Amino acid sequence: MPTRKKIGLIGAGNIGGELARLCANKELGDVVLFDIPAKESFAKGKALDLEQNSSVLGYDSAISGSGKWEDLKGADVLIVTAGIPRKPGQSRDDLVAVNLPIIRDVANNAKKYCPDAFVIVISNPLDAMVYEYMRVTGCDKSKIVGMAGVLDSARFQLFLAREANVSIKDVRAMVLGGHGDDMVPVLSMTTINGVPATTLIAKDKLSSIVERTRKGGGEIVNLMGTSAYYAPASSAVAMAEAYLLDQKRLLPCAAYLDGEFGYKDLFMGVPVVIGGKGVEKIIEIPLTDEEKGMLTKSAQSVQSVVDVVKKS
Ligand code: APR
Repeated sequence: MPTRKKIGLIGAGNIGGELARLCANKELGDVVLFDIPAKESFAKGKALDLEQNSSVLGYDSAISGSGKWEDLKGADVLIVTAGIPRKPGQSRDDLVAVNLPIIRDVANNAKKYCPDAFVIVISNPLDAMVYEYMRVTGCDKSKIVGMAGVLDSARFQLFLAREANVSIKDVRAMVLGGHGDDMVPVLSMTTINGVPATTLIAKDKLSSIVERTRKGGGEIVNLMGTSAYYAPASSAVAMAEAYLLDQKRLLPCAAYLDGEFGYKDLFMGVPVVIGGKGVEKIIEIPLTDEEKGMLTKSAQSVQSVVDVVKKS
């Protein structure tokens, strides 16, 4: 008898709630919305609200709230948003001290209760948190990714579409590197349905779009007082869906690098094929010298946060 997939969402906050809504609406599986014991009833309330929504929208996924790791046993996918989001004036790296014990707690429990899950980490600072999760759990590198590139690329693509006055559907772009101010929008491969963006958008406009993309998360933090959640949730769900439905999508994700692009023992955004086996392949696309230089700078920034994590 086929059974439904089980999706564990660790953190029932802003991103967690939107993740639950999208996973259920797409009927990707049954959802457990998990939070710390002090917020268990909040998680249960949110889950109940979303389950009642199924009657209106017509989906069969079950959604439950929980504060007990036992309820996550056997999860096929875990999406981790546990942690504190940014406030205005903070960088993602400022969150390391507060979010490090949280990711360690999550990883220790996940190792015990759902060792076979495909894991997508969203908590910030992303590249260091996903590194620490893998270090604590010792999970296989094919079963863990960080969500940043899909979101950063979405921001980049939106700004390009608005500038070129074309449909967002026709913009293709990837943002690689760490999820910080040094991220690398790969202009050499950015097209409007195959037409190089550089032929449609003036150089100075492209530069300001790159800059706005790099600060895209901060722009929202400054407006809302907390970090974004709709596009981050959709981005992670695209990755979860690629795994659950074996779609073999090529998406920019923070993946464990073991020599690819010249980096070792580091998580950073690279083009990844996600299918039923998890991270099935890392695609080493050719980069211009300028892009390679930017990737090196970004890798150094990521490494410096990972070094802090390793010493803590
Ligand atoms: N286990 C499970 N959940 C936890 C834990 C833990 N150890 N510690 C904190 N949480 C929960 C909080 O109780 C809260 O409900 O994580 C949830 C986070 O929700 P929000 O504060 O709404 O934050 P959100 O906007 O969802 O962002 C979460 O993702 O993008 C990143 O920078 C962001 O690190 C932040 C994370």
